[in-house]
Amino acid sequence: MPKSRRSITDLILHLHPPTVPEETLRFNLSWGLGGMAVMLVGLLFFTGILMLLVYQPSTDQAYTSILILTREVPFGLWVRNIHHWSANLLVVISVLHLLRVALTGAFGPGRRLNWVIGLFLLFLLLSSNFTGYLLPWDQLAYWAVTICTSMLGYIPFCGQWLQELFRGGAEIGPATLANFFVLHVAFIPGTLFILLLWHFWLVRRAGGLVQIKKNDAPEAPSPRVSTVPNLVMREAAVGLALVAFVLTLAIFWNTPLLEQANPGMSPNPAKAPWYFMGFQELLLHLHPVFAVFVWPLLGAAAFLCVPFWRDTALPTGVWFGSGQGRTLAAWTTAIGVVATLTLILIDNLLLGSATAVTNTFVTRGLLPTGVLMVLSAGLYSWLVKKLNYSRAETVMAGIILVLVTLTVCTIIGVWFRGPEMHLVWP
Ligand code: HEM
Repeated sequence: MPKSRRSITDLILHLHPPTVPEETLRFNLSWGLGGMAVMLVGLLFFTGILMLLVYQPSTDQAYTSILILTREVPFGLWVRNIHHWSANLLVVISVLHLLRVALTGAFGPGRRLNWVIGLFLLFLLLSSNFTGYLLPWDQLAYWAVTICTSMLGYIPFCGQWLQELFRGGAEIGPATLANFFVLHVAFIPGTLFILLLWHFWLVRRAGGLVQIKKNDAPEAPSPRVSTVPNLVMREAAVGLALVAFVLTLAIFWNTPLLEQANPGMSPNPAKAPWYFMGFQELLLHLHPVFAVFVWPLLGAAAFLCVPFWRDTALPTGVWFGSGQGRTLAAWTTAIGVVATLTLILIDNLLLGSATAVTNTFVTRGLLPTGVLMVLSAGLYSWLVKKLNYSRAETVMAGIILVLVTLTVCTIIGVWFRGPEMHLVWP
């Protein structure tokens, strides 16, 4: 093998084991989602560094520097678009990757820590998206960040302090831009990079991706094939196809840029970035403390703890664990969509408009939370005791339900909320 080729192979083998189980090469096990996320992170780092050559992180110059980048610098608009689309696709791809990990039983013993690290990665990339959102300093950025940082203020005891910490004062201004800039270009990418290396190493230490465990047969190791070229060729095909897709998307679809930020003129409606719209939608129905603190905290705690509860992972390597699991997943998705839509409509049309909600702590906080807890416990014991689903299948249904609810709330918030956050037809 020529020396240059051997060095590339050596580099690849720092991240991959020399051989991998043949069974884990099938595309429909992972859909290449983890690899796609890596590729998008690569595009983000590359285009981010290029944009740093032009961008000025001060409230006087940020907006003008974006105009210069997109109007005067050769390929500047394209680079900005690639960064924008990679960042937004990364959120979608990472959530799908999380779902595939959950639905193929890949957070069980040996992979628990990696699930937790994955959740931190998700948190970091949402934070990265959000801090980057402010940097163009246009109306969209200014008001979206105003909405989200004021949500922080509802967190009991330390909310005001947190809000001022992120804003760098009472209002959004030069200090906020400086804070967000440092978080976006230094702190978050640095932490993300370290956690990513840990994430990959843990996949390697677990012996690669999950494999089908044949309970009835004695443990017969699946045949292994060499990583180069078998795995690497597949990764390259998926990665290059994705890059081609993003580059093409970025030619035809520009990143929005409104007028320069104007603290005196709030748009109507003022919306959070799309990935936080699910929470903004919750805010229309629940007491703020529950919408921005109690429910997200309960959800995050449940996701963090789920691998550490006995027998919660599905049989490994098989989507939904079994045919029965697949049927349960389909029903859960359908019921989740219908129930969320119905609740939103009932709340808006019968119980009062979104803006005229009587936000009392009991009726819009404790009561719905209590009902949710009782319903979850009842549903769990009905599925396990009466319908004989396994604990893992029931937990899978819970994960699907949370993600479906959040997705429906996000779609409603992004497309079906108009002036004063009233329901509208898009
Ligand atoms: C920046 C975001 C992320 C990147 C770049 C990333 C990357 C990867 C890659 C390359 C793999 C191996 C290949 C594959 O499974 O497709 C992997 C596996 C894994 N990821 Fe992620 N990931 C990210 C986020 C997450 C999230 C949000 C979770 C879940 C909370 C997660 C949990 C896992 C687990 C448990 C595995 C092992 C899967 C198995 O053994 O089959 N990751 N990740």
